[in-house]
Amino acid sequence: MERARMKVLSVVGARPQFVKLAPICLAMSDKAEIEHVIVHTGQHYDANMSDVFFEGLSIPRPDVNLGVGSGTHGVQTGEMLAKMDGVLAEHRPDMVLVYGDTNSTLAGTLSAVKLQIPVAHLEAGLRSFNRTMPEEHNRILTDHAADLLLAPTQVAVDHLNREGLGSRTVLVGDVMADVCLRTRDLMEGRPGNHPSTLKHGSPYLVATIHRAENTDDPDRLGAIIRALQEIEKPVMLLSHPRLVEKARAFDLELVGGQLVVGNPLAYHELIAAVMHSEGVITDSGGLQKEAYLLGKVCTTVRAETEWVETLDDGWNVLTADPAAINTFASRSAPAETRHCLYGDGHAASVVVNRLVAFHRG
Ligand code: UD1
Repeated sequence: MERARMKVLSVVGARPQFVKLAPICLAMSDKAEIEHVIVHTGQHYDANMSDVFFEGLSIPRPDVNLGVGSGTHGVQTGEMLAKMDGVLAEHRPDMVLVYGDTNSTLAGTLSAVKLQIPVAHLEAGLRSFNRTMPEEHNRILTDHAADLLLAPTQVAVDHLNREGLGSRTVLVGDVMADVCLRTRDLMEGRPGNHPSTLKHGSPYLVATIHRAENTDDPDRLGAIIRALQEIEKPVMLLSHPRLVEKARAFDLELVGGQLVVGNPLAYHELIAAVMHSEGVITDSGGLQKEAYLLGKVCTTVRAETEWVETLDDGWNVLTADPAAINTFASRSAPAETRHCLYGDGHAASVVVNRLVAFHRG
């Protein structure tokens, strides 16, 4: 007798979740026994933060868009929660899959567990141990509520074991390596997205800054912008809407020195820009790993990282002190070869197999 199809409902809403969704969609499309429903919360709504990822990474259009948009944490998360009940009642999924650590992750998780729908958390077990980060609350609450914890690294598995969640945890590898390595192969040999104000071939760094801890205090944001402007080589700053909004509110000028300010890039453009760069300055989680996977030095403007493996051998360096950014960002690549830290590029099919196995009990 033919088995009934398993219905998985993915909840995404912010840029890094669209990147993780792409390899999952691909792996699910290979499995006839899975029906996949995509819910976009609308947390990120600008075309260059959302649509461009669906188009560029060939992700099917979302089945539902909650259209929630921006707001305080409570308003944004609460609105998502209120709208999810109806969506779950209509689609009646066998499992809800949530991604990463955003307010969309938390809302998707809470709405599903309250309706007793099993939840799988992709990228489970990450910890910064910084309880002032909104992402840290989202991660911990999601992991403790979810039924299946899909951990990307052994470090993440260890964190979950320590929190008593080992029996729900599986090590699956990192789906961001799947999409990064595939895109690297696609972009190999193609020209990068070179800053237009630069002579072609001249060295440059890629920078992104968006975390609340860096953007929401005017003195700190001012010091970071000045540090980027003082670097002796061109820096391509791909400005997240939060950065633009805060710089405007604090009357801080982003352009200055050799800092070239541009809009966020589509995924394949970002990968090409990093491939052709001399290194990365960032506070993004994803970009730290992408720099590592692409063999570029990374300077992370934070006191801690969830991706501690990237720090081994000096490929990634942490600095919470803006005054130290210049020195770190100008270092050359370590002699040490990099390790295969994030899986072999096939994590998404492992994830999908785990979802099916969980469902079948
Ligand atoms: C969110 C996530 C963070 C993730 C990041 C990736 C939370 C708590 N944070 O942070 O974990 O690393 O996404 O980008 O969920 N805005 C726009 N257009 C957009 C989206 C946002 O203009 O398409 C502006 C809004 O004014 C908003 C601000 O950016 O107030 C911040 O957006 P928000 O969704 O609150 O969080 P992010 O900083 O993007």
